[in-house]
Amino acid sequence: MPLFRPIHHTFAPHVGAAQMMHALALLAQPWKWKDGTEREALRCALARQYSADVFLFASGREALVGLLKALKGPERAEVIVQAFTCLVVPNAILAAGKVPVYADIGPDTLNLDPADVERRITPRTQAIICQHTFGIPADTHRLRALCDRYEILLIEDCAHMMPDKHGPTTVAKDGDAILFSFGRDKAVSGITGGAMLSRRPGLSVQLQAEEGRATSLSLLHIKRLLLYPFVYAIARPLYGMGIGKVLLILARTVGALVPILTSAEKQGTMSPTLHKLPNACAALALTGFQRLTAINDHRRALTTYYFAEAAQRHWTFPKAIHPDLPLQKFPLFMKNAEGIRRALKKQNIHLQDGWSGCTICPPGSPQESVCYTPASNPVAESSATMILSLPTHPTMTEGQAHALAERLDILLKQTI
Ligand SMILES: Cc1ncc(COP(=O)(O)O)c(C=O)c1O
Repeated sequence: MPLFRPIHHTFAPHVGAAQMMHALALLAQPWKWKDGTEREALRCALARQYSADVFLFASGREALVGLLKALKGPERAEVIVQAFTCLVVPNAILAAGKVPVYADIGPDTLNLDPADVERRITPRTQAIICQHTFGIPADTHRLRALCDRYEILLIEDCAHMMPDKHGPTTVAKDGDAILFSFGRDKAVSGITGGAMLSRRPGLSVQLQAEEGRATSLSLLHIKRLLLYPFVYAIARPLYGMGIGKVLLILARTVGALVPILTSAEKQGTMSPTLHKLPNACAALALTGFQRLTAINDHRRALTTYYFAEAAQRHWTFPKAIHPDLPLQKFPLFMKNAEGIRRALKKQNIHLQDGWSGCTICPPGSPQESVCYTPASNPVAESSATMILSLPTHPTMTEGQAHALAERLDILLKQTI
C-alpha cells in the first residue's frame, strides 16, 4: 500500500507551518527583500559562532566562486576536490578560472582520502576543498597537516552540516575558509544563500571586495524564491495521487519556481557574476540558524534511530557514522540500490536525492566539461552505485522513519 504522506528528501524538507508563516510575512514586505537588517544580523551570528570573518552571497556555489576569485595565484591553478561531489562545486572552480583535480574518497567516510589527496598535489595546487559528505566529519586533522606542509589553503565545505554547540567539534575548526549553504535542503534553509567564512586577514580583504562588487537579485527573482514554500505545501500532500508532480511541473513551466540547477549549470558551466544574499533569504536563514541546535537534535535523533535499525537488521553503512551525528541523510550501502529506490517510489517513498549512481552529482552531469576522467577514482565510483540514503530533515517524523525502515526491510528480504 502506498503511504498517504510522501517520504522524501527533496520536497521542501524545511517547509513546515513556521517557515510558511515567515515567508508569507516577508512576501508582504517587499521593501525588505533586497536589503535590510537581517543580513547583518546573520553575518554577526555566524561570525560569533565560528570565529571568522563572514561574507554572504546568493548561494553556496557563488560564495565558493567569490573565495576562489579572491585567491590570487597562477593562471589555471589547481584545486583538489573529492570525487563524489555536487556538480556545482567543480562548476564554481572553473568559473573562478581554476582547474578541479579529483581525489578519491574513503569508503568509511565518503570524504577525501588524505593519502590520495597527497598523491594529487602538484606545484600548481592552490587549495583543497574538504567536504563533510552528508554530515560525516572529514579527517580535517590530516588534511590541515598536508596543507601546512605544502602551503595550500584548506577550504571546509560545510554545505551538508552546520555544527552547533554540541559539535561535531572537529567540523568548521581547521579550515582557513569555511563554506556554508542556506539552500532549501541544507542544514539551515534560506531557500537560497551561502556564506564564506575566512580566517585569513589577507583573504578577508579580497572577499570583502568581491562581496562589495556583487549585485542584487531582481525583485521578481526573490518573489519566486519566496513562493517556493507555498508551491510545495500544496503539491507535497498531493504527490501520492500524481497531482503534486503535475503541479510542480506547471509551477516550473510558468516560472513560479527557481530551479536548483540552471540548464547552463547542468551542462557544466557557471557565470562568475556574484549576487548579494537577498535580505529576505537572510531572514529565513537567520531564523533557522537560531534554531540550529533543535534542528540538529532532530537529525541526531533520526541518525540514532537508523543506526540502531541498521545494526539490528545487518544493513551496511559507512563505518565512520556514529549515532550522535546530526547527519543530513543516513547513507546505506546495498547491491541493488536503484531497484530498491524504484520499488519504494511505488509506495510514495522518494529517495532519489541526486546523490547516487554518480561521482559528479546529480546523475547525468557532464563529466568531461568539469575535467572528470571516468574510472579515475575507483572507491567513489563503486560507493556511489551502492548508496541509498534515508532522510533526517526537519519535517521527517520518527513515525515516518519507522515506516521507512519496516518497508525497506521487507523489500531487502524479498530481494535476497
Ligand atoms: C557538497 C556541496 N557543496 C556546495 C554546494 C553549493 O551549495 P548551493 O546550493 O548553496 O550553491 C552544494 C549544493 O548542493 C553541495 O552539495
